[in-house]
Amino acid sequence: MTTATNKVEIRRGLMGVYFDRSDSCFIDGTVGKLLYRGYDIHELAENSTFEEVVHLLLFGKLPNRKELDAFDKQLRADRDIPDKVLDIMDTVKNGHPMDVLRTAVSALSAFDPEVKDNSEAAIIRKGLRLTAKAPTIVAAHDRLRKGLKPVKPNASLNHAGNFLYMLNGKMPSEDEMHIMDVDFILHAEHGSNASAFAARVAASTQTDLHSAVVAGIATLKGPAHGGAAEEVMKMAEEIGRPENAESYARNILDHGGRVMGFGHRVYKAEDPRARHLRDRSHTLGISKGQPQWFEILAKLQEVMKPYQAKGIYVNVDFFAGSIYYLMGIPDDIFISIFALGRIPGWTLNVAEQYRSNILIRPLTDYSGPMDVPYTPISKRN
Ligand code: CMC
Repeated sequence: MTTATNKVEIRRGLMGVYFDRSDSCFIDGTVGKLLYRGYDIHELAENSTFEEVVHLLLFGKLPNRKELDAFDKQLRADRDIPDKVLDIMDTVKNGHPMDVLRTAVSALSAFDPEVKDNSEAAIIRKGLRLTAKAPTIVAAHDRLRKGLKPVKPNASLNHAGNFLYMLNGKMPSEDEMHIMDVDFILHAEHGSNASAFAARVAASTQTDLHSAVVAGIATLKGPAHGGAAEEVMKMAEEIGRPENAESYARNILDHGGRVMGFGHRVYKAEDPRARHLRDRSHTLGISKGQPQWFEILAKLQEVMKPYQAKGIYVNVDFFAGSIYYLMGIPDDIFISIFALGRIPGWTLNVAEQYRSNILIRPLTDYSGPMDVPYTPISKRN
């Protein structure tokens, strides 16, 4: 038992601490390598689809054609959300999209027939239903807060295309669908990051998947995790023109601040996910007649070059914000897009936790006073 007099080793932020084994995600932060179930993220981003990757993550194998067709059909069939959940969303529609997503996922638990079933098969089925429904929530909320009617899911479109369709109320271009698909692939899973760990901590108490995903959404919302893409784009908008980027960044750094979209707890080389968004941010900017955003980001990268010696490189969020912005997506939905991609990852982490569950309950080393005599309220100053 730890007491105030014990000397214990404290790893703040659990930095460098391994708490379990996993066969789903490998990250080598020193060289910027990321594998999902052994497959290189570059191969998946270049050749695969989000639907295939979700199958890979949750069932451990890339699907063959027949498996993919059945799997995709089920995902498309599960997109609708109950009207009562829409009513709840309408009541809280002035909240941040992540708060509304968190609330709606929580509300969905009341409508899921398997909410209490924590068998691995049920966890995966529930995770897939949440994966299918979450884009409907994010898109419907944006419509509701704009005074528009939510757009019904379109079963002829893939996961990424249907999300853009429901959000904007018009057919996305092939290019936009592909970019969103790649973006979802890149965000699908990332080991024991803060939100996945939060989901695992929740699962370790034997709670249900919906509760664990709510914990994941709540944790992803912070600017040190999923919130960075929104912050990067706000920064780019404040900078306004490429020639202002250097003085803007220097001002942040000289005051001990952080330039958003740089740095990562695990990657001390470039985040491998950033590569796939960099080129797209560039080409999309040119095709939309707004090359300035990529130019601002490129300038920021230049200013931050000396920080590479400290292991600070761009992360996945650095270029993501500019891509969403160029697709006409409101800034405050950027984190929700991260969440849409990550639901399979949270589901996988919860399933893994359940497979050999143990309550996650670390310790803090007490450093306060001991055995303080109790003073009755009448005698307190
Ligand atoms: N700009 C300038 N300096 C930085 C930055 C940055 N973005 N990130 C870290 N540093 C410095 C930090 O000031 C510290 O310097 P010193 O040693 O002189 O005190 C050093 O690097 C180590 O920083 P740390 O906070 O101890 O590192 P961490 O591993 O705890 O932080 C981080 C990781 C992501 C919280 C941090 O890099 C950060 O705040 N970045 C900006 C926010 C961001 O882009 N987050 C998205 C992460 S990627 C998406 C995801 O997977 O969640």
